[in-house]
Amino acid sequence: MAIRKIYQVGDDTLRQVSKPVTEFDDKLSALMDDMIDTLIYADGAGLAAPQVGVLKRIFVATFDGGSTIVEAVNPVIVKAKGKRVAAEGCLSVPNIHDKVERPRHVVVHAYDRHGNPIELKGDGFAAACFCHEIDHLDGVLFTDKTVKK
Ligand code: NI
Repeated sequence: MAIRKIYQVGDDTLRQVSKPVTEFDDKLSALMDDMIDTLIYADGAGLAAPQVGVLKRIFVATFDGGSTIVEAVNPVIVKAKGKRVAAEGCLSVPNIHDKVERPRHVVVHAYDRHGNPIELKGDGFAAACFCHEIDHLDGVLFTDKTVKK
């Protein structure tokens, strides 16, 4: 396990579309362990693989002060309901917190690191977090979506 470098805005890596994971192997597991270590070390809420320079469709997130860790491989939003505007930040975009409109509730289908299908349900902050992380997998940053008010 290791802390990885977090790529910062301006790096073209953050603007690429990530590829689906096809091999659920030890290398994937090691990457995800590193992502969790890096997320906790950086004291963030979520981290997507492109943020550590790996263009694969993976994110990790932590809630409840670190007591809940969520990991998702090849995540897809299958249901989105409602609207909520709240301030967001990003470990790749230092010192900016701006308002973004996100669904209030989302359901995400994904896989765990072993290739087992999982379903994640997010409300409020968690919904925004899942959407923010999945945007990273498509090269989108929250600053692209800032609500101008
Ligand atoms: Ni981010």
